[in-house]
Amino acid sequence: MRVVILDSTEDIGAYGAGVILDGVRRGRIHTLGVATGSSPLAIYRALADQWIPALAQLKAFALDEYVGLPADDPRSYRSVIQQEVTDKLRLDPANVHVPNGCAADLDAECERYEAAMAEAGGVDLQLLGIGRNGHIGFNEPSSSLSSRTRPKTLMAATRRDNARFFPDPGDVPRHCLTQGLGTILDAAEVLLVAQGSAKAPAVRAALEGPLSSMCPASVLQLHRRATVVLDEEAAQHLA
Ligand code: F6R
Repeated sequence: MRVVILDSTEDIGAYGAGVILDGVRRGRIHTLGVATGSSPLAIYRALADQWIPALAQLKAFALDEYVGLPADDPRSYRSVIQQEVTDKLRLDPANVHVPNGCAADLDAECERYEAAMAEAGGVDLQLLGIGRNGHIGFNEPSSSLSSRTRPKTLMAATRRDNARFFPDPGDVPRHCLTQGLGTILDAAEVLLVAQGSAKAPAVRAALEGPLSSMCPASVLQLHRRATVVLDEEAAQHLA
């Protein structure tokens, strides 16, 4: 795993955008795996600032979605991806995929999503954040290391962490659809971003702890092209 420690959010944004722009220019990146949450926002901003027409050709697949929030709900990940990725990078909305958390048959929706990713040729670069409990996507501790896209129950701690996006903390959905750890490992390249001291224990467990489903991000130790981009605070517990 490659670890890059940078000084500021702006530097992290510039680094991540640089990796993506380089991959797009060289014809290596056609499909981007996109995360929501705070961690990748600086990268999306930097990409918008350095926009090139080739970015508009990208396909995108989101990591996860809440169950039960309609697509036009501003808190749904579909809405967030629309605002932060589709609009900023000027992607064709038809090329942007988010699992449908309101599908009548959630298992069938997850199978359809996996098939759509395969049909697109897989994800060339997957952006990730990390939860304080070590989750990536919404693969909470004890998730199978070979899991595929599926419905999951969110842990109370994750619902508390995400309550900042909801006026009433009780409104945070209890269930989600998420790409599995096996799905994430299939990406040709992954780039995980973590900032702030609250993430430091999870970062240490993921990078220097044992490979364990109790720290789902530790599965990235198996990936051949994984880069972890940190600020000093998130890196403070690394040896
Ligand atoms: C988001 C996602 C989550 C977040 C993680 C960190 O699509 O799948 O794993 O990346 O919860 O969230 P932030 O970046 O808000 O700290």
